[in-house]
Amino acid sequence: MVEKILVIGSNGQIGTELVTELRKINGESNVVACDIRRPDYDIKNGGPFEFVNVLDKENLKAIFAKYKPTQVYLLAALLSATGEQNPKLAWDLNMNGLLNVLDFAIDFGTKKIYWPSSIAVFGPNSPKQQTPQFCTMDPNTVYGISKLAGERWCEYYFQKYGLDVRSIRYPGLISWKAMPGGGTTDYAIHIFHEALKKSSYSSFLSAETELPMMYMDDAIRGTIELMDAPADQISIRSSYNFSGVSFNPEDLASEIKKYIPDFKLSYTANDPRQKIADSWPKSMDDSTAKKDWNWKPEFDLEKLTLEMLTNLKKS
Ligand code: SER
Repeated sequence: MVEKILVIGSNGQIGTELVTELRKINGESNVVACDIRRPDYDIKNGGPFEFVNVLDKENLKAIFAKYKPTQVYLLAALLSATGEQNPKLAWDLNMNGLLNVLDFAIDFGTKKIYWPSSIAVFGPNSPKQQTPQFCTMDPNTVYGISKLAGERWCEYYFQKYGLDVRSIRYPGLISWKAMPGGGTTDYAIHIFHEALKKSSYSSFLSAETELPMMYMDDAIRGTIELMDAPADQISIRSSYNFSGVSFNPEDLASEIKKYIPDFKLSYTANDPRQKIADSWPKSMDDSTAKKDWNWKPEFDLEKLTLEMLTNLKKS
């Protein structure tokens, strides 16, 4: 069957790479990039693009009617740090955007929906090490609250309407093709840019702040593997724990120093993102993803550091 795929939020950090990969697999014309902003050169010239605002129901409905998508990836969201600057907008976009897409998916017969969740669904009372799939969840950012509520809605639409919704709780995603969009884990990308530019970086997270992270290639591959898995193998309809590698700023700096020996890492105190990071897991137990759809990450800290430095140097 030929898939017709919409990627909503196509210009962001994930969308930029996901659209390219989906187009390789499904053909350029079958993957429609959708965003509220004009796309960058690659996406615009590689296949169809539509202006879509997920909060504008008429606009969204017209796009569903025009393409009758078999799959929709909904990536449009405000992340943890930007969300705190505008909590009501973050709630509106992250929540009503999802509900609008779920409703039109039912109305227009969309077969599968992908919606990303995050490690931000966990909070200060969740276990920090090897955080399990099911445990206390008390997120204290509007982003985390909206992602946890969204997970519950995804499971609800699956149970009540049989909608095939699939989701992953992404860790901090590390990539070089597009800049991150205002998250707490963004330091782990900025550090590479600054290391190459001026051999130094001031981290807004403290030396010992360990967080779950993942190289983008693993995240994109895992996402597509989840979407390709037979429906009866998907036991989690809220969102899957998903793990790559865990490290803190010092670990990352030591790895960067292997290639840039004079690299200096310093710290900026009292950044509001520290409190967010302190409430999140340090590592994740993703055994259910491993069991259900054979998830296996390929990039460790050494490999992702080399990839980041090599590609950023070239670009
Ligand atoms: N990278 C995201 C953030 O920091 C986590 O989902 O907001």
